[in-house]
Amino acid sequence: MAWVLLCTLFVTGSCKEETAPEEEQMETKALVDIQKQGFGQLPDGKNVDLYVLTNASGVKASVMTYGATLVSLEAPDWEGRFADITLGFDSLEGYLSDSPYFGSTIGRYANRIAEGKFTLDGIEYTLAQNNGENHLHGGTKGFDKVMWSAEPVKMEEAGGVKFVYLSKDGEEGYPGNLTCTVTYLLTDSDELRITYEAETDKPTPVNLTHHSYFNLEGQGSGDILDHELMIDANEYTPMDEGLIPTGEIRSLEDTPMDFTTPHAIGERIDQVEGGYDHNFVLRGGGGTLILAARVHEPDSGRVMEVHTTEPGIQFYSGNFLDGSITGKSGKVYHKHYGFCLEPQHFPDSPNNPNFPSTILRPGDRYMSLTVFKFSAQNPRS
Ligand code: GLA
Repeated sequence: MAWVLLCTLFVTGSCKEETAPEEEQMETKALVDIQKQGFGQLPDGKNVDLYVLTNASGVKASVMTYGATLVSLEAPDWEGRFADITLGFDSLEGYLSDSPYFGSTIGRYANRIAEGKFTLDGIEYTLAQNNGENHLHGGTKGFDKVMWSAEPVKMEEAGGVKFVYLSKDGEEGYPGNLTCTVTYLLTDSDELRITYEAETDKPTPVNLTHHSYFNLEGQGSGDILDHELMIDANEYTPMDEGLIPTGEIRSLEDTPMDFTTPHAIGERIDQVEGGYDHNFVLRGGGGTLILAARVHEPDSGRVMEVHTTEPGIQFYSGNFLDGSITGKSGKVYHKHYGFCLEPQHFPDSPNNPNFPSTILRPGDRYMSLTVFKFSAQNPRS
């Protein structure tokens, strides 16, 4: 599979730097500050740690060991005013009880698998049906709800955290012991780079992604309908009412889902039943790092680019937010108060042989990279 090879080459480059000899790391002055602090306790008494990463321009990303979750991301607007642009909670409790995957790492399989069933090498596997009759985001206790071990990563122009989790053979119905590594790196060029790696001892589907809800005007400040979005895709995977792909790959031309040129998210959302919650097939996606999407918020001037090695991206316009969640600083999250851009393989790929394969086999290495890049531009220029 060409994309795996290309991806391996790309990611290996950055991994080499991470594993530089100790002396070399000592001599290198990391420009990104890394602070570790407590973020509460799980009901079983386990302590959850929060790592706060701050770069030279003041961009701050906080990630915690529960769910390898991005808890906050502070970025400047065009006048240099910082705001937290991700939805979430002030303390661990909210993440344990209420969270619709705010900032989560999603696995073992992001998105849906029809009826929680697939056949691999002649064996039928049954997974949790936690979304109607379908399987969603890894099941009832997916990677977003487990504890990850963590160690800080210091590099010359970046700093971050490497999270590791062993998903045991049979967990949530999946075959094989899967060792997963998710590394968040904040760079001095205002990028949040997320690298995913995994190895297995039995063939298994793997599809990992990141599930932050963004609002580039600041979390809780209103809906995201005025954000202008570009997605570099001219095809998508149509779905049935349960949001399961029909197997077809269809053109986006002349549909309200065509974002090849920028459109405000709200401009055509009424023409899309239920709002946006679709998998876009990225042009040239799958293997090399490409620009998949760009979002611009006109008042703050904030811009977010999403680059990925994945072949698809799920664009979700926060349709299920309904005002029942009170998040950070007491803000109530209503419908469309955040959007997600989740780079991933296509939903239900294990049941669609015409989609790029998500099967990882023993001896192979799963590699994936997503980069969120932040900037701001004067809205009047
Ligand atoms: C993904 C799915 C949505 C929804 C959210 C979580 O984005 O595609 O349908 O399940 O996760 O609420």
